[in-house]
Amino acid sequence: MTTPSTPRRPRTVLAMGPRVRDALFDAAALDRLAAVADTDPALVVGDFAAAEHAAALAGAEALLTGWGCPPLTAAALERMPRLRTIVHAAGSVRHHVTDACWERGLTVASAAAANALPVAEYTVAAILFTGKRVFDAQRAYREQRRRLDPLDLLAGAGNYRRTVGVVGASRIGRRVIGLLRPFDLRVLLHDPYVTREEAGRLGARPVSLDELALSSDVVTIHAPELPATRHLFDRARLALMPDGATLVNTARGSLVDTEALTAELVSGRLNAVLDVTEPEVPPAGSPLYDLPNVLLTPHVAGSLGNELGRLAHAALDELERYGRGLPFAGPVRAEELARSA
Ligand SMILES: NC(=O)c1ccc[n+]([C@@H]2O[C@H](COP(=O)([O-])OP(=O)(O)OC[C@H]3O[C@@H](n4cnc5c(N)ncnc54)[C@H](O)[C@@H]3O)[C@@H](O)[C@H]2O)c1
Repeated sequence: MTTPSTPRRPRTVLAMGPRVRDALFDAAALDRLAAVADTDPALVVGDFAAAEHAAALAGAEALLTGWGCPPLTAAALERMPRLRTIVHAAGSVRHHVTDACWERGLTVASAAAANALPVAEYTVAAILFTGKRVFDAQRAYREQRRRLDPLDLLAGAGNYRRTVGVVGASRIGRRVIGLLRPFDLRVLLHDPYVTREEAGRLGARPVSLDELALSSDVVTIHAPELPATRHLFDRARLALMPDGATLVNTARGSLVDTEALTAELVSGRLNAVLDVTEPEVPPAGSPLYDLPNVLLTPHVAGSLGNELGRLAHAALDELERYGRGLPFAGPVRAEELARSA
């Protein structure tokens, strides 16, 4: 049996936007930070070129990054000759981990798995609430202020044996499929990287994207933003969706042709729950704000409020693993970035 080596407290510098540290780390998390890393928690670097940070950066073995961390360019890395690892207390590392980091052989970890949970929770809530036609019922009640006949009001509504189409068995997509398991729903999956066997193990039936669009009462998009996923839901694919179906997008606005979707929503043929749009923010005059069949939220599905504490602890877990010489639980690998968020 191998025993992990004695834990070390790697010399660590925090790099993130102003106010992000305070949002991530409460007093307990700061205590834990001090236990797992040799760090000055008062120092938060927002500019790798700033002269006052030169000494701290020169000694850093680890960077604990968060939203707003500037890009780790070759020039920035030159100021960190001892740097070995980057632990990101958020999801995607695309904004700050550059090719120069991979060329330097740095290891990278991210809390993306922890960030997947609130997005999956939002999605499941959206699927269940829209299946039940909760927003239609609320609107009718608000407008009519009288007893409404549920046989008229909610005809065709309900979450019994509905079909949910999941696009992308990503971290979030897998969480959604897992959270949907207890319900009486049929789950379809489209993901070009997932075998039939694996889809079956997840509890979903693998289908083509067109079949998913044709057969789903609710389509929920969880694929990453990549050249190959731009306008995955274009006019033609949206047209395949059955009348009255709902599109849930918590991924990225670019995966859907907004103009085509808006036309389907204005006509009332489709419904949507949109946490992301293209552009984000929609123009002030966009019908998406006011349409009764659209629930539009300002990119809030990911970690917010007390959920940031989960990201902080996930990142501290990774720093602790690093200090013990153990592999990361959520490693980011350069070769996987071409198909991940
Ligand atoms: N709304 C929010 O607040 C929020 C928060 C976090 C992430 N996101 C978004 O959610 C999406 C999923 O994030 P994640 O971290 O789970 O992604 P991820 O990095 O885990 O996704 C990678 C996986 O997506 C699948 N995939 C790749 N190309 C595909 C394609 N063409 N069709 C279907 N599946 C494909 C593959 O299984 C791949 O392994 C991303 O678009 C991300 O930007 C949104």
